[in-house]
Order: sequence, then C-alpha cells, then structure tokens
Amino acid sequence: MKKKKIAVLVGSLRKKAYSKSVANCVIGLASDDFDMQIIEIGNLPIYNQDYDDEEIDIYTKFRETIKASDAILIVTAEHNRSIPAVLKNALDVGSRPYGKSVWAGKPGAIISQSYGAIGGFGANHHLRQVTSFLDVRMMNQPECYLGEIMNSLDENGIITSERTIKFLKQFMDAYKKWVN
Ligand SMILES: Cc1cc2nc3c(=O)[nH]c(=O)nc-3n(C[C@H](O)[C@H](O)[C@H](O)COP(=O)(O)O)c2cc1C
Repeated sequence: MKKKKIAVLVGSLRKKAYSKSVANCVIGLASDDFDMQIIEIGNLPIYNQDYDDEEIDIYTKFRETIKASDAILIVTAEHNRSIPAVLKNALDVGSRPYGKSVWAGKPGAIISQSYGAIGGFGANHHLRQVTSFLDVRMMNQPECYLGEIMNSLDENGIITSERTIKFLKQFMDAYKKWVN
C-alpha cells in the first residue's frame, strides 16, 4: 500500500526545540502507512508579495513539497500568545501567489506545547483562525495542548513521560482516522 505523505511543520527554530522533540515523538508513534517528514521552514525568506513575480527556488520547493503531501501536522511553540513568526511565514508563503494556495483541502492537526501551564492555547487557536481561512481541514478533537513540556522530556530531549506518550498515541490514532 502506498504510504500517505505527511508534512510536519515545526514552529520553532531553536536547536533543542521542545516542538522538535514532540514532532519526533509523534513521528515514532505514527501509523506504518504514514511517511512523516519534518519540512524545513527556517530557510524561507520573509514573505514579500513582490516575490510572486519571481521564481524563488526555495519557495517553489516548499510549495511543491506541501502540494505533494496528503496531510499536514503542525507542532508548535507559542510566541506572545500567538503563532511563532517562522510558522506564520511558512503559511503565508504556501498561500500565494493568489489563487495558487497549496493548503486548500489538506487534512491537518495541531499540537501546541509550552513551558507554561496552558500549553500554547493562544498559538493553537490563532493557527485555527489562519488555517480555516486557508481551507485546511483541521481536526478539532482531541485538542492537544502540552503544558509544562519540560517535565515530559529527558536530558536528551526525548519524550519519556508515559502520560504524555499515551496521550500523543491517542492523538495520532485520531489523526490517522482523520487523514484517512
Ligand atoms: C519570543 C517568545 C515569546 C514567548 N511567548 C510565550 C507565550 O506567549 N506563552 C507561552 O506559554 N510561552 C511563551 N514562550 C515560551 C515558549 O513558547 C516555550 O518555552 C516553548 O516551550 C518553547 O518551545 P520550543 O522549545 O519548541 O521553542 C515564548 C518564548 C519566546 C522566545
């Protein structure tokens, strides 16, 4: 059976990003029929509408990668109660040129995490606002806000908390149904 391609977008550029740890954990928990890859977004120049008239290789490659994906999964931190700029930039880049958005109709899901107690609720819901306009078919339930994320990892950045892993497994089972 052909594997479904899942584009994983990570909303943090930090070397030891918790978001990346969570992304790697869910990639490990995913169904065998999913081919999940973290897509580089930190190299995308800040979106400028003037670029729509130019051929920017790095934009083209990103847009084609998303277009060729069957679904998306966003794993993100929260910055100032909203979407980290690197992630919003990637969403903007994929949404243009006008009429050629690569997001429309893709099934998706959001995992937000934070050092704080409320698990990136603001980023999660701002993402829902943006992606609903982009016509991403975002999974509504279960929601995933991972609070106090530092307590779920070991010193190597591996998610070791059984409670967190159990919850992420349930989340990925629901995501599999949603994508299929
Ligand atoms: C610029 C900036 C703004 C932040 N704003 C928030 C915030 O509004 N709410 C929150 O819970 N954490 C906030 N944080 C903390 C991070 O979201 C949190 O530590 C997260 O776990 C870091 O994830 P990462 O390791 O994937 O970057 C902020 C961090 C930075 C650098």
